[in-house]
Amino acid sequence: MEITARKIANIPAHKTSCAIVTIAKSRKLSEAAKAIDSAQSGLISAALKHGEISGNAGETLMLHGAADAASARILLVGVGSSAKFDAATARKTSTAIVKALRAGKCKEACLHGTGLGSSDYSLGQFCELLSRDLSLASYVYSETVSKPRPALPLRKLVVNGGDELTVREANKFLNRGQYVGDGMNIARRLGDLPGNICTPTFLASEARQLAKSSAKLSTRILEEKDMLKLGMGALLSVSAGSDQPAKLIQMQYKGAASTQKPYVLVGKGITFDSGGISLKPGAKMDEMKYDMCGAASVFGTLTAIIAMELPINVVALVAASENLPNGRATKPGDVVTSMSGQTIEILNTDAEGRLVLCDTLTYAERFKPAAVVDIATLTGACIVALGSQASAMYSNNDKLAEQLNSAGEISYDRVWRMPLWEEYQRQINTPFADIANVGGPAAGSITAACFLARFTEKYHWAHLDIAGSAWNSAPKGATGRPVAMLTRYLMDRAGIK
Ligand code: BES
Ligand code: MN
Ligand code: ZN
Repeated sequence: MEITARKIANIPAHKTSCAIVTIAKSRKLSEAAKAIDSAQSGLISAALKHGEISGNAGETLMLHGAADAASARILLVGVGSSAKFDAATARKTSTAIVKALRAGKCKEACLHGTGLGSSDYSLGQFCELLSRDLSLASYVYSETVSKPRPALPLRKLVVNGGDELTVREANKFLNRGQYVGDGMNIARRLGDLPGNICTPTFLASEARQLAKSSAKLSTRILEEKDMLKLGMGALLSVSAGSDQPAKLIQMQYKGAASTQKPYVLVGKGITFDSGGISLKPGAKMDEMKYDMCGAASVFGTLTAIIAMELPINVVALVAASENLPNGRATKPGDVVTSMSGQTIEILNTDAEGRLVLCDTLTYAERFKPAAVVDIATLTGACIVALGSQASAMYSNNDKLAEQLNSAGEISYDRVWRMPLWEEYQRQINTPFADIANVGGPAAGSITAACFLARFTEKYHWAHLDIAGSAWNSAPKGATGRPVAMLTRYLMDRAGIK
């Protein structure tokens, strides 16, 4: 899809199959709306007069222009009261535009942006959001279906920023939105692929593939024998019951001098989580193919920052394994030794995410990170606590927590900070090892984070539990979250406004 900015001086004369204009709650017409209205004998004023649209954010109305008019159709889009245009209103507006363009089967359209944006949320930011949403709307899962559903028909969108936004600025935001959207689609594809295709070995080959696309990216795959040498007894206890070998995938993005400390992203990559010997019940077990969405978000974020050529260093680590039961599988009550030296009593083999993560987090120390962020579909309890609106965020550093929070707000890919209080730690004490891998039914997302906290004391660290935000159950599909938030966080670190 081609999305570009253009300065359009003579709006009513601009030929388009669908002109998009905003309608504010005040019902005062924008310059563009006024121009089209008078060229098309008061078409827009008439719709307003009849109360067909009132200007609330999220409302749309498709009008059909006169046969000889340059704008064949006019899409009116409610944007609420212009002074209060914020991230939430922008989200509603952008979603509504994409929906209307899909319903109208538009192949081409032109958005007149005047009247969009406020001191809170700029027209540029809106351009980024809309372009991201359009990328997302063009995602179609096709790999294992004979007749994939039709893609969004839109081929071309022109954005006229009027006097508010130069063509250059608008294009900057539009491109950025596409990069983030593309990154999210990478994450969605990996998430949606079935477990028999998307195995740890498959993820490793995807990493090598990605490295081919950029001279700044290098890949190293640690095999089980390498992990054994490093003493990764926790990670290997998860892959013990599977015929598919575990892979620790390391991707290094060098966008800055090697003296610059890297930001490390760690993704949970359980390509299928059956629960292991602590087998899960059958209902919805298919959705455990999504248990590698943390890893998928790392791939997506890397793709976006490669496209943006961010001037920072990033190390991505993906802990990839299946969690299956067989005769060699880890059993409840088994004790293993992690790379950190801490022993772990595995009371429930279904709490496997923290086991693959803890060794990967210890491994992360060698990169002397500026900060480490892990992303994991870690607990069902996280869904109980926050639903799908927010990813749970935990951190041992207030500044890092605030940076992630603000990145989440701006990108509208939000996180909510949860407590890591010392008092929760006792839930994972056990007489038989240094630490137990489960902490009982209370505060399940928190005790999982407390487990990880015992492996991350040497650096600034945050953990994102994305169990509720990474995929939807109806209709089923990966969301690509939290790629937008992570990309924004890294853009902020690179000083990109
Ligand atoms: N991958 C699951 C968490 C999960 C479950 C995410 C359902 C999304 C939907 C994780 O490995 C797991 O099984 N966690 C257990 C932990 C428990 C045994 C302490 C859970 O949440 O039930
Ligand atoms: Mn599990
Ligand atoms: Zn899991």
